[in-house]
Amino acid sequence: MNREDFSMLDGDIVYFDNGATTLKPRKVIEKMDEYYKMYTSNIHRGDYDSAIKTNMAYDGVRKIVANFVNCQEDEVIFTSGTTMSINTVVFGYMRKHLKKGDEVIISKAEHASNVLPWLKLSEEIGIVVKYAELDSDMELTVKNIEKAITEKTKVISIAHVTNVIGDVRDIATIGKMCREKGILFNVDGAQSVPHMKVDFEKSNIDFLSFSGHKMCGPTGVGVLVARKELMEEMDPLCYGGGMNQTFEADGSYELKVGPSKFEAGTPPIAEVIGLGEAIKYLEEIGMDKIHEHEVELKKFLVSELEKIPNIILYNKKSNSGILSFNIDGVFAQDSSVYLNNYNICVRAGNHCAKILKDEMKIKNTVRVSMYLYNTKEDVLKLVEVLKKSEEIFRIVI
Ligand code: ALA
Repeated sequence: MNREDFSMLDGDIVYFDNGATTLKPRKVIEKMDEYYKMYTSNIHRGDYDSAIKTNMAYDGVRKIVANFVNCQEDEVIFTSGTTMSINTVVFGYMRKHLKKGDEVIISKAEHASNVLPWLKLSEEIGIVVKYAELDSDMELTVKNIEKAITEKTKVISIAHVTNVIGDVRDIATIGKMCREKGILFNVDGAQSVPHMKVDFEKSNIDFLSFSGHKMCGPTGVGVLVARKELMEEMDPLCYGGGMNQTFEADGSYELKVGPSKFEAGTPPIAEVIGLGEAIKYLEEIGMDKIHEHEVELKKFLVSELEKIPNIILYNKKSNSGILSFNIDGVFAQDSSVYLNNYNICVRAGNHCAKILKDEMKIKNTVRVSMYLYNTKEDVLKLVEVLKKSEEIFRIVI
C-alpha cells in the first residue's frame, strides 16, 4: 500500500530490511525540509516568530506521540533512539534504585541495547541478570516469565516484538502481572510501535522505548515514554543548556522537571518534527491495517518458501512481518549478497541479538522484515530468486 509515497520505490528495488530502518514518505521529508527552509530556529530560546513556530512544532509532537501510544504528553522524552532511551532507563533510573542481588529478567532473544546496559549495571552494582526461558520456537511465553520471577525480581525488561524471531510478547498480561507484583516493566518497542497498536497505559508499562527511523521517520530521533512518577526520580545522562532552571558559582543548581530535564543541548529539532509527521502518516493508514498486512504477507512468504527444499525457516509461527531463514549450506551474508544481485535488500548476520545463537544453535540468519509498502509481488520476486539459488550455489560451493 501507499508505494507512490516513497521515492525509494520508484525503481525496481525490493526493500525487505525494515527491521533495520524503514523508507521515508515524501510527506515526512517535506515537513523537515519546510522547517529547514522556512523557519529554522532553535527551540525554547528565542522570542521571535520563527522561534515560536519552532517551539510549537517541536513540543506539539509530544501530543502526537502521547495520542499514538496512549500516555500523557509530559511522559514523552525525545532521545536519539531506542538505544539511548533504554540506556537512560538503566543508568538514569535503575542505577539509583536497584541494589546488589536485585534481579532483572530479560531473555536471550533481546537486542544488544536491552542486554548490554543491564550487563554493565550488573558489573557496577551487582544486580543479577536472569534470562527467562524461550520455548522451542524461540518465543517468550507469559508462563516462562512467571517461572523466572522470584522475591528478588525488581524489573522485567523485554522487547514487545523481537528482531530475529518476531514473536509478539503478550505485554498486556505481563504488564498486569508486573503491576500486581510491584515489578517495574521496561518495554523495548523498537520492532512493535512501528507495526501495531501499542498502549502504554493499558499495558501497565513503566518505560517504553522506540525509534523514529523504524517507523517512516528520520534517523537520530527516538522516544522514551516514562511513567510520570518514575521520571521525577530519574537522573538525566546528559547535562547542559535547556535542562536546568538555574546554576550558581557556589555549586548549587536546580534542574527542570519533566521531559526537558532529559533533553540537554539543541535536540534533533527537524527530526522530532519529522517524527510527528511520520506518526500522522501511520495513523492515517491505521496501525491494525499495517499489522494485518504484514502478517498476511509473511504467511504468504512462508507458504511459498516451504515449497523450496533448500530453504530453512526459523520462525514460521511468529505473528509479525519478520521471517528469518537460511539457504541450506550457505553463509547468511553470501545469501544476502546473492539477493542484492537482484536488487532485494535483506539483512544477514546475528542482527545484534548475539546470545540468541545459544538457543537457536545457529549463528547467522537472513532476515526479511516487512512494512506497509511491501507487496505480494515483492514476495514472489524473492521466492523466484530463492528457487534459483539451489542450482547457483551448487555450482559456487
Ligand atoms: N535493530 C535493528 C535491526 O534489527 C538495527 O536490524
